[in-house]
Amino acid sequence: MKKIVLETYEDVCRAAADIFSEQLRQKPDSVLGLATGSTPIGLYAELVRRYEAGDVDFSKARSFNLDEYYPISKSNPQSYFYFMRKHLFDKVNLRHFCLPDGEAADAQAECKRYDTEIAAAGGIDLMLLGIGLNGHIGFNEPASSYPVGTHLAVLSESTISANSRFFALGEAQPVTALTMGIGGILRSKKIVFVISGKSKADITKKLFDDAIHMDVPGSFVLLHPDVTVLLDREASGG
Ligand code: PGA
Repeated sequence: MKKIVLETYEDVCRAAADIFSEQLRQKPDSVLGLATGSTPIGLYAELVRRYEAGDVDFSKARSFNLDEYYPISKSNPQSYFYFMRKHLFDKVNLRHFCLPDGEAADAQAECKRYDTEIAAAGGIDLMLLGIGLNGHIGFNEPASSYPVGTHLAVLSESTISANSRFFALGEAQPVTALTMGIGGILRSKKIVFVISGKSKADITKKLFDDAIHMDVPGSFVLLHPDVTVLLDREASGG
């Protein structure tokens, strides 16, 4: 694992954008794994800026997102489909993007379809991850056992409370989601974690104490042979 502590959030976003740009330069038809949340927003803004400057090209790439609320309509501004269009898909020339379908009638069938589609694309070349305050990756919440593949997940109290900042008072907040499993994440060829802010300092410390913690799903990623962790000074606790 390569752990890189940078001064600011902007530095983290630029360093992550370097990794994505380099991936696309080396392999224009890369399969990218993408994430939502506050942390990737600056990375997507930086990728849009580089795309507009002609420095990065997504035309041959494909992407698969980690997760999506379920059930949720694609036109709901709270959906991750909407988020991704707003921050990236509508602004760059990435045409083949997939998320688990929050509108699917059958969640189990959709999970199976999603894993089959990722496998048919040749697997994920570069996977972006954030970490939740409780150590979750995607919506793999702390538990005593973890499904390997994409599955329907029940959000933890901690995640519902952390994500409530995105919802207006009285607005319905989803409590279930479709998420790639830890096995699916670990099958990616490369993984990059982006972590920012002092609210993440405690979980970051636990993530890097050289142990696999059953109650920190993100710690399983440290078993992967090619992980780069980009974090700012505040998240590093320094
Ligand atoms: P955040 O979310 O980037 O909004 O902190 C990270 C996560 O929950 O995985």
